[in-house]
Amino acid sequence: MLLYLHLLLFCLIPVDRGDFSPPRFNVSLEVPPEQRWGPVLKHYDAAQLRKIVQRVIDAAPKWLSFIIERFENQLGQILPQPYEAEIQGMAKALNLSLGEGLLINLAYELSSFCTSIVVQDTEGNIYHGRNLDFAFSDALRSLTVDLQFIKNGQIVYTGTTFVGFVGLWTGQRPNKFTISGNARVNRDWWKIAVAVLFQRSLPPSWLIRDTLLEAEDFHTALKKLTYSPITANVYYILGGVRPTEGVIITRSLNGPVDIWPLNPMKEQWYRVETNYDHWNNPPPSDDRRTPAMQALNATGQNNINLHALLKVLTVKPVLNNFTIYTTLMCAAQPYYYRTLVRT
Ligand SMILES: *[C@@H]1O[C@H](CO)[C@@H](O)[C@H](O)[C@H]1NC(C)=O
Ligand SMILES: *[C@@H]1O[C@H](CO)[C@@H](O)[C@H](O)[C@H]1NC(C)=O
Ligand SMILES: *[C@@H]1O[C@H](CO)[C@@H](O)[C@H](O)[C@H]1NC(C)=O
Repeated sequence: MLLYLHLLLFCLIPVDRGDFSPPRFNVSLEVPPEQRWGPVLKHYDAAQLRKIVQRVIDAAPKWLSFIIERFENQLGQILPQPYEAEIQGMAKALNLSLGEGLLINLAYELSSFCTSIVVQDTEGNIYHGRNLDFAFSDALRSLTVDLQFIKNGQIVYTGTTFVGFVGLWTGQRPNKFTISGNARVNRDWWKIAVAVLFQRSLPPSWLIRDTLLEAEDFHTALKKLTYSPITANVYYILGGVRPTEGVIITRSLNGPVDIWPLNPMKEQWYRVETNYDHWNNPPPSDDRRTPAMQALNATGQNNINLHALLKVLTVKPVLNNFTIYTTLMCAAQPYYYRTLVRT
Protein backbone atom coordinates (compact mmCIF):
# COMPACT_ATOMS: atom_id res chain seq x y z
CA MET A 1 0.00 0.00 0.00
CA LEU A 2 2.71 2.45 1.04
CA LEU A 3 4.84 1.63 -1.97
CA TYR A 4 1.84 1.99 -4.21
CA LEU A 5 1.10 5.46 -2.84
CA HIS A 6 4.70 6.51 -3.34
CA LEU A 7 4.60 5.33 -6.94
CA LEU A 8 1.29 7.04 -7.50
CA LEU A 9 2.63 10.34 -6.21
CA PHE A 10 5.72 9.99 -8.33
CA CYS A 11 3.66 9.52 -11.47
CA LEU A 12 1.25 12.31 -10.64
CA ILE A 13 3.87 14.97 -10.07
CA PRO A 14 5.60 16.17 -13.20
CA VAL A 15 9.26 16.42 -12.29
CA ASP A 16 11.17 18.93 -14.35
CA ARG A 17 14.32 17.63 -15.89
CA GLY A 18 17.02 18.45 -13.38
CA ASP A 19 14.83 18.50 -10.26
CA PHE A 20 15.64 15.57 -8.01
CA SER A 21 14.68 13.99 -4.69
CA PRO A 22 17.38 14.46 -2.04
CA PRO A 23 18.69 11.44 -0.11
CA ARG A 24 16.62 10.36 2.89
CA PHE A 25 18.35 9.18 6.08
CA ASN A 26 17.33 8.02 9.53
CA VAL A 27 18.63 9.88 12.58
CA SER A 28 18.18 7.94 15.81
CA LEU A 29 17.04 9.95 18.81
CA GLU A 30 18.21 7.03 20.97
CA VAL A 31 21.85 7.50 19.98
CA PRO A 32 23.73 10.12 22.10
CA PRO A 33 23.54 13.54 20.38
CA GLU A 34 27.32 13.67 19.74
CA GLN A 35 27.06 10.53 17.62
CA ARG A 36 23.62 10.66 16.07
CA TRP A 37 24.68 12.52 12.90
CA GLY A 38 27.53 10.08 12.17
CA PRO A 39 25.43 7.79 9.92
CA VAL A 40 24.38 10.83 7.83
CA LEU A 41 27.85 12.40 7.63
CA LYS A 42 29.46 9.18 6.47
CA HIS A 43 27.68 9.59 3.12
CA TYR A 44 29.56 12.84 2.51
CA ASP A 45 33.19 13.59 1.82
CA ALA A 46 34.49 15.48 4.88
CA ALA A 47 36.99 17.58 2.90
CA GLN A 48 34.30 18.58 0.39
CA LEU A 49 31.87 19.43 3.21
CA ARG A 50 34.51 21.48 4.97
CA LYS A 51 35.10 23.48 1.79
CA ILE A 52 31.42 24.35 1.41
CA VAL A 53 31.05 25.16 5.08
CA GLN A 54 34.12 27.40 4.90
CA ARG A 55 32.40 29.53 2.25
CA VAL A 56 29.46 30.07 4.58
CA ILE A 57 31.78 30.86 7.50
CA ASP A 58 33.80 33.34 5.40
CA ALA A 59 30.59 35.22 4.58
CA ALA A 60 29.73 35.73 8.25
CA PRO A 61 30.63 39.10 9.77
CA LYS A 62 34.11 39.16 11.33
CA TRP A 63 32.91 40.50 14.68
CA LEU A 64 30.68 37.45 14.99
CA SER A 65 33.58 35.02 14.51
CA PHE A 66 35.46 37.12 17.05
CA ILE A 67 32.74 36.86 19.68
CA ILE A 68 32.27 33.16 19.13
CA GLU A 69 36.02 32.50 19.39
CA ARG A 70 36.18 34.55 22.54
CA PHE A 71 33.38 32.56 24.20
CA GLU A 72 34.29 29.19 22.71
CA ASN A 73 35.05 27.63 26.10
CA GLN A 74 31.71 28.67 27.52
CA LEU A 75 29.55 27.64 24.55
CA GLY A 76 29.01 24.22 26.11
CA GLN A 77 27.20 25.81 29.04
CA ILE A 78 25.39 28.48 27.03
CA LEU A 79 23.84 26.54 24.17
CA PRO A 80 20.72 24.42 24.74
CA GLN A 81 20.81 20.65 24.44
CA PRO A 82 20.74 18.45 22.48
CA TYR A 83 21.79 21.00 19.86
CA GLU A 84 25.12 21.92 21.46
CA ALA A 85 26.15 18.27 21.68
CA GLU A 86 24.98 17.57 18.12
CA ILE A 87 27.00 20.53 16.78
CA GLN A 88 29.94 19.38 18.88
CA GLY A 89 29.78 15.89 17.37
CA MET A 90 29.33 17.17 13.84
CA ALA A 91 32.20 19.66 14.19
CA LYS A 92 34.47 16.90 15.42
CA ALA A 93 33.61 14.67 12.46
CA LEU A 94 34.39 17.52 10.06
CA ASN A 95 37.51 18.69 11.92
CA LEU A 96 35.96 22.05 12.74
CA SER A 97 35.97 23.82 16.08
CA LEU A 98 32.72 24.03 18.08
CA GLY A 99 32.75 27.77 17.32
CA GLU A 100 32.91 27.11 13.57
CA GLY A 101 30.15 24.54 13.91
CA LEU A 102 27.99 27.09 15.69
CA LEU A 103 28.84 29.74 13.13
CA ILE A 104 27.51 27.68 10.21
CA ASN A 105 24.43 26.82 12.19
CA LEU A 106 23.78 30.51 12.83
CA ALA A 107 24.58 31.42 9.22
CA TYR A 108 22.07 28.91 7.91
CA GLU A 109 19.50 30.46 10.25
CA LEU A 110 19.45 33.38 7.88
CA SER A 111 17.13 31.56 5.48
CA SER A 112 16.60 34.57 3.30
CA PHE A 113 13.54 34.31 1.04
CA CYS A 114 10.87 31.68 1.19
CA THR A 115 7.27 30.98 0.28
CA SER A 116 4.99 28.82 2.43
CA ILE A 117 1.37 27.94 1.68
CA VAL A 118 -1.23 26.11 3.75
CA VAL A 119 -4.56 25.17 2.15
CA GLN A 120 -7.79 23.34 2.87
CA ASP A 121 -9.60 21.50 0.07
CA THR A 122 -13.40 21.20 -0.19
CA GLU A 123 -13.32 17.91 1.75
CA GLY A 124 -11.50 19.53 4.66
CA ASN A 125 -8.06 18.02 3.94
CA ILE A 126 -5.10 20.22 4.87
CA TYR A 127 -2.04 20.47 2.61
CA HIS A 128 1.14 22.40 3.21
CA GLY A 129 3.91 23.33 0.78
CA ARG A 130 7.01 25.45 0.91
CA ASN A 131 9.87 26.78 -1.20
CA LEU A 132 13.12 27.45 0.60
CA ASP A 133 15.25 30.13 -1.07
CA PHE A 134 18.77 30.89 0.11
CA ALA A 135 22.09 32.35 -0.97
CA PHE A 136 24.86 29.80 -1.69
CA SER A 137 22.14 27.87 -3.49
CA ASP A 138 24.53 25.86 -5.69
CA ALA A 139 26.48 24.52 -2.74
CA LEU A 140 23.44 23.86 -0.59
CA ARG A 141 21.55 21.88 -3.24
CA SER A 142 24.10 19.08 -2.82
CA LEU A 143 23.68 19.19 0.99
CA THR A 144 19.87 19.00 1.09
CA VAL A 145 18.55 15.93 2.93
CA ASP A 146 15.23 14.53 4.11
CA LEU A 147 15.59 13.07 7.59
CA GLN A 148 13.48 10.69 9.64
CA PHE A 149 14.03 11.06 13.38
CA ILE A 150 13.51 7.63 14.91
CA LYS A 151 12.68 6.36 18.37
CA ASN A 152 11.48 2.84 19.29
CA GLY A 153 11.56 1.93 15.61
CA GLN A 154 8.96 4.63 14.82
CA ILE A 155 9.29 7.89 12.92
CA VAL A 156 8.76 10.59 15.58
CA TYR A 157 9.11 13.32 12.99
CA THR A 158 10.42 13.98 9.48
CA GLY A 159 12.26 17.08 8.33
CA THR A 160 14.35 18.65 5.60
CA THR A 161 17.65 20.42 6.17
CA PHE A 162 21.23 20.91 4.95
CA VAL A 163 23.94 18.57 6.18
CA GLY A 164 25.81 20.33 9.00
CA PHE A 165 22.71 22.19 10.16
CA VAL A 166 20.95 20.75 13.21
CA GLY A 167 17.82 22.93 12.96
CA LEU A 168 14.82 22.28 10.72
CA TRP A 169 12.98 24.89 8.65
CA THR A 170 10.55 22.25 7.39
CA GLY A 171 9.09 19.31 9.26
CA GLN A 172 6.19 16.96 9.90
CA ARG A 173 4.91 15.16 12.95
CA PRO A 174 3.06 12.25 11.33
CA ASN A 175 -0.73 12.31 11.76
CA LYS A 176 -0.49 15.51 13.86
CA PHE A 177 0.91 18.61 12.15
CA THR A 178 3.37 20.13 9.67
CA ILE A 179 5.57 23.22 10.19
CA SER A 180 7.58 25.53 7.99
CA GLY A 181 9.45 28.70 8.92
CA ASN A 182 10.11 31.80 6.81
CA ALA A 183 12.48 34.63 7.68
CA ARG A 184 10.96 37.92 8.81
CA VAL A 185 13.62 40.42 7.87
CA ASN A 186 15.28 42.57 10.47
CA ARG A 187 18.53 44.30 9.73
CA ASP A 188 20.46 43.70 12.93
CA TRP A 189 19.73 40.03 12.83
CA TRP A 190 23.20 38.79 13.76
CA LYS A 191 23.61 41.07 16.73
CA ILE A 192 20.22 40.18 18.14
CA ALA A 193 20.79 36.47 17.61
CA VAL A 194 24.03 36.45 19.52
CA ALA A 195 22.70 38.64 22.32
CA VAL A 196 19.60 36.53 22.72
CA LEU A 197 21.41 33.21 22.43
CA PHE A 198 23.31 34.22 25.55
CA GLN A 199 19.94 34.56 27.30
CA ARG A 200 19.09 31.01 26.26
CA SER A 201 16.44 31.66 23.65
CA LEU A 202 16.25 29.12 20.84
CA PRO A 203 17.07 29.92 17.22
CA PRO A 204 13.73 29.59 15.35
CA SER A 205 14.73 26.39 13.54
CA TRP A 206 15.63 24.72 16.84
CA LEU A 207 12.20 25.60 18.20
CA ILE A 208 10.71 23.83 15.17
CA ARG A 209 12.61 20.68 16.15
CA ASP A 210 11.58 20.97 19.80
CA THR A 211 7.96 21.40 18.72
CA LEU A 212 8.06 18.39 16.37
CA LEU A 213 9.44 16.29 19.22
CA GLU A 214 7.30 17.50 22.09
CA ALA A 215 3.91 18.73 20.84
CA GLU A 216 1.25 16.01 20.70
CA ASP A 217 -1.27 17.90 18.56
CA PHE A 218 -1.91 20.99 16.44
CA HIS A 219 -3.01 23.19 19.33
CA THR A 220 -0.03 22.37 21.54
CA ALA A 221 2.25 23.05 18.57
CA LEU A 222 0.48 26.36 17.93
CA LYS A 223 1.01 27.45 21.53
CA LYS A 224 4.66 26.43 21.59
CA LEU A 225 5.49 28.17 18.29
CA THR A 226 3.58 31.28 19.36
CA TYR A 227 4.94 31.88 22.85
CA SER A 228 8.46 30.38 23.14
CA PRO A 229 11.22 33.05 23.15
CA ILE A 230 13.37 32.89 20.00
CA THR A 231 16.48 34.60 18.65
CA ALA A 232 15.01 36.08 15.44
CA ASN A 233 11.75 37.39 14.05
CA VAL A 234 10.11 34.75 11.91
CA TYR A 235 6.89 33.49 10.37
CA TYR A 236 5.77 30.03 11.39
CA ILE A 237 3.32 28.26 9.09
CA LEU A 238 1.49 25.39 10.75
CA GLY A 239 -0.86 22.82 9.20
CA GLY A 240 -2.90 20.20 11.06
CA VAL A 241 -5.11 17.23 10.24
CA ARG A 242 -8.62 18.63 10.72
CA PRO A 243 -10.61 21.31 8.88
CA THR A 244 -9.51 24.90 9.74
CA GLU A 245 -6.18 23.64 11.17
CA GLY A 246 -3.94 25.97 9.18
CA VAL A 247 -2.36 29.17 10.47
CA ILE A 248 0.36 31.74 9.90
CA ILE A 249 2.04 32.98 13.07
CA THR A 250 3.93 36.27 12.82
CA ARG A 251 6.57 36.24 15.56
CA SER A 252 8.71 38.74 17.40
CA LEU A 253 11.44 37.53 19.74
CA ASN A 254 9.18 37.25 22.76
CA GLY A 255 5.76 36.33 21.45
CA PRO A 256 3.10 36.69 18.76
CA VAL A 257 2.62 39.80 16.61
CA ASP A 258 -0.31 38.27 14.74
CA ILE A 259 -2.10 34.93 14.31
CA TRP A 260 -3.86 34.43 10.97
CA PRO A 261 -5.83 31.18 10.67
CA LEU A 262 -7.60 29.72 7.65
CA ASN A 263 -11.23 30.77 7.50
CA PRO A 264 -12.83 28.40 4.99
CA MET A 265 -16.38 29.44 5.96
CA LYS A 266 -15.52 32.81 4.46
CA GLU A 267 -13.84 31.24 1.43
CA GLN A 268 -10.42 31.95 2.86
CA TRP A 269 -9.24 28.43 2.09
CA TYR A 270 -5.54 29.25 1.76
CA ARG A 271 -2.90 31.34 3.46
CA VAL A 272 0.27 32.44 1.67
CA GLU A 273 3.32 33.74 3.51
CA THR A 274 6.51 34.97 1.87
CA ASN A 275 8.72 37.28 3.92
CA TYR A 276 6.45 40.23 4.65
CA ASP A 277 3.71 40.91 7.20
CA HIS A 278 0.43 39.85 5.57
CA TRP A 279 -1.34 43.11 6.50
CA ASN A 280 1.18 45.12 4.43
CA ASN A 281 1.76 45.02 0.69
CA PRO A 282 4.97 43.24 -0.32
CA PRO A 283 7.55 45.53 -1.97
CA PRO A 284 7.06 45.58 -5.78
CA SER A 285 10.69 44.47 -6.19
CA ASP A 286 9.93 41.19 -4.39
CA ASP A 287 6.28 40.33 -4.84
CA ARG A 288 5.99 36.57 -4.76
CA ARG A 289 2.71 36.76 -2.85
CA THR A 290 0.47 38.03 -5.68
CA PRO A 291 1.61 35.43 -8.26
CA ALA A 292 1.12 32.66 -5.67
CA MET A 293 -2.40 33.93 -4.86
CA GLN A 294 -3.27 34.26 -8.53
CA ALA A 295 -2.16 30.66 -9.13
CA LEU A 296 -4.19 29.46 -6.13
CA ASN A 297 -7.26 31.40 -7.30
CA ALA A 298 -6.87 29.91 -10.78
CA THR A 299 -6.60 26.41 -9.26
CA GLY A 300 -9.66 26.74 -7.02
CA GLN A 301 -10.47 24.97 -3.77
CA ASN A 302 -12.12 22.14 -5.74
CA ASN A 303 -8.87 21.23 -7.44
CA ILE A 304 -6.29 21.83 -4.75
CA ASN A 305 -4.07 18.90 -3.71
CA LEU A 306 -0.33 18.32 -3.33
CA HIS A 307 0.09 18.02 -7.07
CA ALA A 308 -1.61 21.37 -7.68
CA LEU A 309 0.32 22.92 -4.81
CA LEU A 310 3.60 21.91 -6.46
CA LYS A 311 2.43 23.68 -9.62
CA VAL A 312 1.72 26.85 -7.62
CA LEU A 313 5.18 26.63 -6.03
CA THR A 314 6.68 26.29 -9.52
CA VAL A 315 5.22 29.55 -10.88
CA LYS A 316 7.87 32.25 -11.36
CA PRO A 317 8.95 34.16 -9.30
CA VAL A 318 7.55 31.99 -6.48
CA LEU A 319 10.15 29.58 -7.87
CA ASN A 320 13.31 31.58 -8.59
CA ASN A 321 17.08 31.25 -8.98
CA PHE A 322 17.59 31.06 -5.22
CA THR A 323 15.03 28.30 -4.62
CA ILE A 324 16.90 25.32 -3.25
CA TYR A 325 14.06 22.97 -2.52
CA THR A 326 10.28 22.54 -2.52
CA THR A 327 8.64 20.35 0.14
CA LEU A 328 5.05 19.08 0.00
CA MET A 329 3.38 17.62 3.04
CA CYS A 330 0.08 16.53 4.52
CA ALA A 331 0.18 15.48 8.18
CA ALA A 332 -2.89 13.23 7.79
CA GLN A 333 -1.11 11.32 4.99
CA PRO A 334 2.46 11.44 6.31
CA TYR A 335 3.91 9.08 3.64
CA TYR A 336 3.33 11.84 1.07
CA TYR A 337 6.13 13.93 2.59
CA ARG A 338 8.26 14.78 -0.40
CA THR A 339 11.10 17.19 -1.18
CA LEU A 340 12.32 18.20 -4.62
CA VAL A 341 15.68 19.91 -5.01
CA ARG A 342 15.12 22.54 -7.72
CA THR A 343 17.67 23.23 -10.42
C1 LIG B 1 42.26 19.42 11.35
O1 LIG B 1 42.38 20.82 11.59
C2 LIG B 1 43.61 21.18 12.16
C3 LIG B 1 43.55 22.67 12.53
O2 LIG B 1 42.87 23.41 11.55
C4 LIG B 1 44.76 20.83 11.20
O3 LIG B 1 46.00 21.18 11.76
C5 LIG B 1 44.70 19.32 10.89
O4 LIG B 1 45.66 18.99 9.92
C6 LIG B 1 43.33 18.93 10.38
N1 LIG B 1 43.23 17.48 10.25
C7 LIG B 1 42.68 16.90 9.18
C8 LIG B 1 42.59 15.40 9.22
O5 LIG B 1 42.25 17.52 8.23
C1 LIG C 1 14.50 4.02 8.99
O1 LIG C 1 13.67 3.73 10.08
C2 LIG C 1 12.41 3.16 9.73
C3 LIG C 1 11.57 3.04 11.00
O2 LIG C 1 12.23 2.31 11.99
C4 LIG C 1 12.67 1.79 9.07
O3 LIG C 1 11.43 1.24 8.67
C5 LIG C 1 13.58 1.99 7.86
O4 LIG C 1 13.92 0.76 7.31
C6 LIG C 1 14.85 2.73 8.26
N1 LIG C 1 15.59 3.04 7.04
C7 LIG C 1 16.88 2.83 6.93
C8 LIG C 1 17.51 3.21 5.64
O5 LIG C 1 17.53 2.35 7.85
C1 LIG D 1 -7.95 35.83 -5.18
O1 LIG D 1 -9.32 35.64 -4.91
C2 LIG D 1 -9.79 36.36 -3.78
C3 LIG D 1 -11.23 35.93 -3.51
O2 LIG D 1 -12.00 35.98 -4.66
C4 LIG D 1 -9.66 37.85 -4.04
O3 LIG D 1 -10.08 38.58 -2.91
C5 LIG D 1 -8.20 38.17 -4.31
O4 LIG D 1 -8.03 39.53 -4.65
C6 LIG D 1 -7.65 37.30 -5.43
N1 LIG D 1 -6.21 37.55 -5.48
C7 LIG D 1 -5.52 37.60 -6.62
C8 LIG D 1 -4.07 37.95 -6.49
O5 LIG D 1 -5.99 37.33 -7.69
